[in-house]
Amino acid sequence: MRVGDRHFRTIWLAEDGRSVEIIDQRRLPHDFRVVTLSTVDEVATAIRDMWVRGAPLIGVTAAYGVAIAMREDPSDEALAAVWETLHETRPTAINLRWALDEMKRVLKPLPADQRADAAYERAAEIADEDVELNRAIGAHGLTLIRQIAASKKPGEKVNILTHCNAGWLATVDYGTATAPIYLAVEEGIPVHVYVDETRPRNQGAQLTAWEMAGHGVPHTLVVDNAGGHLMQHGQVDMVIVGTDRTTANGDVCNKIGTYLKALAAKDNDVPFYVALPSPTIDWTVNDGVAEIPIEERDGDEVSLVWGRTAAGEVLQVRISPEATGAANPAFDVTPARLVTGLITERGVAEASAEGLRRLFPER
Ligand code: MRU
Repeated sequence: MRVGDRHFRTIWLAEDGRSVEIIDQRRLPHDFRVVTLSTVDEVATAIRDMWVRGAPLIGVTAAYGVAIAMREDPSDEALAAVWETLHETRPTAINLRWALDEMKRVLKPLPADQRADAAYERAAEIADEDVELNRAIGAHGLTLIRQIAASKKPGEKVNILTHCNAGWLATVDYGTATAPIYLAVEEGIPVHVYVDETRPRNQGAQLTAWEMAGHGVPHTLVVDNAGGHLMQHGQVDMVIVGTDRTTANGDVCNKIGTYLKALAAKDNDVPFYVALPSPTIDWTVNDGVAEIPIEERDGDEVSLVWGRTAAGEVLQVRISPEATGAANPAFDVTPARLVTGLITERGVAEASAEGLRRLFPER
């Protein structure tokens, strides 16, 4: 997508043909900085410490991490080691495991001297595929927005609430939840987005809001707890969120707080959609609440908040007493019964085992 007058993806091969360049998402919206990752350790740190984040982008970054490892040492042992190192960086987003397994599937049968080239090739393909998946999700989601727009009075806005950042910054380009929104704006449908701030790391306030502002999408930042109130007062026409892992029966794991939005949506008859590319479906899991590992992050992410002072200095401040500990579960699971539909690259599926199998019969 556009940053100023340039088009950026979130990750690309550096000029040396070995390293990758990424946008350092910890610094947005205050500072746009590109960082080079040249070693597996740097890739692991970038994923763990959320320089890159968002399930699809985590997967693509890991795929490039495998390629970097293969350039150093293309042995079976090195392949197994990089799989382990990167797999343990973030436990919930299934795209990470999907990408690592995909790289292993392609590389394992090859002679060692062919692995590095093949790894860079496959990583680049996975990145391009992500862009195509998001374009397709956008087209299917647009149909839903069009339908809601058609039910409104001429000129009335379609109000969409979103949580966290499932935008282009969370993917290689376009985003999942945001792809239909960008297309709707392009088509001239009047939309307005309520952006949940998404405590504790504020991906909504810092990333989604930055995306919306950068692309001229009318939007308003709200605190996480405002969603229920807005829905009760008819101010939300639909919710679209992303997901880090969706089970074979349609349970949706996403950023902490998503479940509460889904409950409020159900209680107020607001359609609750989840946009996802198929690598985010974990076909091995059926019960999301019982089976999906939920990442527990450092409590400091809750107690300390980043911001920019009026003087332009970006700094971190403490908002709770030093003596107060903080729990920080990073994701929650929304049961399939609360989900109106899953917007995939193949169309909109009912959130159920049957609904997903109808769209993905090969699974
Ligand atoms: O912890 P994060 O910022 O990686 O979490 C991101 C989300 O929860 C997104 O909604 C999800 O990855 C879908 S991204 C298309």
